[in-house]
Amino acid sequence: MGIQITPSILNADFAALGAEVARIPSADWVHVDVMDNHFVPNLTFGPTMVEALARSTDLPLDAHLMIADPDRHAPTYAEAGCGSVTFHVEAAAAPVRLAREIRAAGARASMALRPATPVEPYEDLLPELDMLLLMTVEPGFGGQKFLDLVLPKIRRARALMEKHGVETWLQVDGGVSLETIERCAEAGADVFVAGSAVYSADDPDAMVEALRAAAEAAG
Ligand code: DX5
Ligand code: ZN
Repeated sequence: MGIQITPSILNADFAALGAEVARIPSADWVHVDVMDNHFVPNLTFGPTMVEALARSTDLPLDAHLMIADPDRHAPTYAEAGCGSVTFHVEAAAAPVRLAREIRAAGARASMALRPATPVEPYEDLLPELDMLLLMTVEPGFGGQKFLDLVLPKIRRARALMEKHGVETWLQVDGGVSLETIERCAEAGADVFVAGSAVYSADDPDAMVEALRAAAEAAG
């Protein structure tokens, strides 16, 4: 599939989300951060808002669910029109069943790991997943500093994907910018979430293209 850039709207203007998404036509996906004030200490929006956003853009939505009990709620986001739905393994009771339910609801199934969660226990799940998200900050807020300590895990995850011969995409999220994206691409990531780097730029769409060029040069 190659390099993909998925800007996060977490740091966009929530009062004008449709217009904010229209500022990034070069994006491959729009990353929507769903937070419930339980799994993370922050609150954003739920399926009704996501469904409205899906109707407002031709870009596919990449939902990142930072919520408790994703087993109950995640398929709703596939039904709301998201092309990809990511749940956190730390919150999931039955990740294999959940990934299958997301796929059955018509979305790509993706699983996220917090920075301190190891990837090795989940290597046998890779064929069940369309994407693995490795968080490069503790989830909850935009604008945090990139955690270099996750880079070795990105390398190990890429090696496990090669070992299993799977097509699973490898996404990184948190602190990704022109300063850090090359390190992620070199380590083996191919899908890049960038929130504040895109929405604090004077020209967000030009930043999407700059991030893509930097990752392609390094990957
Ligand atoms: C953080 C979210 C991220 C966030 C990234 O918990 O999952 O998607 O929006 O924002 P930046 O790129 O500013 O770290
Ligand atoms: Zn996210």
